[in-house]
Amino acid sequence: MVTNQIEYHPYLDQMPVIEAARKAGLSITTYYGMADGRVFIDPVLHAIGNRHGKSIAQVVLRWLLQQEGLVALSKTVTAARAAENLTIFDFELSNEEMALIHALAKPDGGRLVSPPGLAPEWDAAV
Ligand SMILES: NC(=O)c1ccc[n+]([C@@H]2O[C@H](COP(=O)([O-])OP(=O)(O)OC[C@H]3O[C@@H](n4cnc5c(N)ncnc54)[C@H](OP(=O)(O)O)[C@@H]3O)[C@@H](O)[C@H]2O)c1
Repeated sequence: MVTNQIEYHPYLDQMPVIEAARKAGLSITTYYGMADGRVFIDPVLHAIGNRHGKSIAQVVLRWLLQQEGLVALSKTVTAARAAENLTIFDFELSNEEMALIHALAKPDGGRLVSPPGLAPEWDAAV
C-alpha cells in the first residue's frame, strides 16, 4: 500500500491533498490529530463528545476515520488512554457533526508542523 503521511486535525483543512490522494488511489495517514493538545479545550468537540458519551480524543479519532481512505496515527503513554482511543467503532458522527468539526479549520491554516528548510511550499487552500 502507498500512503502519504500528513499533519491533519480539526484546525487544518487538508481537503486538497486528501482529494488528490483519493483520485490517485493512495491512502492518507494522519498525524497530530490532537493538534498538540489544542483539541482538549475545544467546546465544539466537548459538546459532540458529551452527546455520544465519548471523550474528545475519541471524537477526533472517529472524525478522522470516518473520512474515506484515512489512516489515523495517535500515541499515548497511558494504557487506559490507548484502550479508550481504540473504542471508536461503537458510535458514528452524523453528517452535521462531521461538518461542525470540519468548520473548525482556520483560514490561516492552523498548521503546526512546518520546519524551516524542510517544509515544502504548501498548497494555497490551507
Ligand atoms: N507530531 C508529529 O509531528 C509527527 C510527525 C510524524 C509522525 N508522528 C508520529 O505519529 C504518532 C502520533 O503522534 P502525534 O503527536 O501525532 O499524536 P496525537 O494523537 O496527535 O497526540 C498525542 C498526544 O495526545 C495525548 N493523548 C492521546 N490520547 C489521549 C486521550 N485519550 N486523552 C487525553 N490525551 C490523549 C497524548 O498524551 P499522553 O501520551 O500523555 O497520553 C499525547 O500528548 C507518533 O508515533 C509520532 O511519532 C508524529
